[in-house]
Amino acid sequence: MSTLRVALLGCGVVGSEIARQMVEHSDDLAARVGARLELAGIAVRRTGRDRAIPGVDPEIFTTDAAALVARDDVDLVVEVIGGIEPARGLIMAAMERGKSVVTANKALLADDGFALHTAADKHGVDLYYEAAVAGAIPLLRPLRESLAGDHVTRVLGIVNGTTNYILDQMDTHGSGFAEALEEAQALGYAEADPTADIEGYDAAAKAAILAGIAFHSPVSLADVHREGISEVTAADVAGAKAMGAVVKLLAICELAPGGEAVGVRVHPAMIPREHPLAGVRGAYNAVFVEAASAGQLMFYGPGAGGTPTSSAVLGDLVTVARNRVAGVTGPGGSWYADRRVRPMGET
Ligand code: HSE
Repeated sequence: MSTLRVALLGCGVVGSEIARQMVEHSDDLAARVGARLELAGIAVRRTGRDRAIPGVDPEIFTTDAAALVARDDVDLVVEVIGGIEPARGLIMAAMERGKSVVTANKALLADDGFALHTAADKHGVDLYYEAAVAGAIPLLRPLRESLAGDHVTRVLGIVNGTTNYILDQMDTHGSGFAEALEEAQALGYAEADPTADIEGYDAAAKAAILAGIAFHSPVSLADVHREGISEVTAADVAGAKAMGAVVKLLAICELAPGGEAVGVRVHPAMIPREHPLAGVRGAYNAVFVEAASAGQLMFYGPGAGGTPTSSAVLGDLVTVARNRVAGVTGPGGSWYADRRVRPMGET
């Protein structure tokens, strides 16, 4: 059996879980791929920290991510560093050298996913990023592949676990926003600086990615109307409750009448308690998809965390590795070439 060598960029909560599972499940993964997956190197910001991962050679850690990506013996690259740079440069360099890429990087995809897809297409490699939106929930691939023969009209969902936890606490216990935020931070849901979560930037990035895939159009974070939950008060939530509704931070991507434009927005909204999204509790995510033939579909599950996110990354890794073994690439940049719809407001 042949071997495919993988460069892992980043070894935080998600990266270390990926490395651990690649070792622990190496036989299963090999059987599914048709080739063994071997870690060629793990790029980290600093070496010397205690990074013991059972079965992983400590010698493969490096601070030189660029050199790792450039190595001829690396076939596939997994990027879980996050942020725009150096991730973008490393991904571009990997693709230029003919290596397929799996990434969980929502910021990068939302910034300019079109350029990344174009590069993947040009160099004949795969670019997969299921983990970038809604953690473990299989969502991008169903939109891109299972629904490829249908006509998606709307994607509506809860894609930020932190804000859903906060709003849920406010609804269930009558907590104020600040108190609920503190609880979310104590449980490790919110970041130390929770701005990206509570002001809707995280959800907006995910909405841009979802809209791009659902409507075959380059949509970036700048195209998304965004409003967070920091102004939502206990009285707002109690008022909604009195009316039989619940406040949720929704990401909404929909075709404008006539289908010529796509509108993408993130804002708190009142939804009736009988709506399936109203029952999404705690830090879970759920996304409703409406398509002409399929009707209404709902995708639900854990939207964050090291283990759930690693599930999505490893699923992508198996797919790009299988494609490499078969000498093919999956649906990619050419799929983005259908620019029939535009973000609302773009001329
Ligand atoms: N901060 C994000 C959330 C993590 O709360 O959903 C996953 O992207």
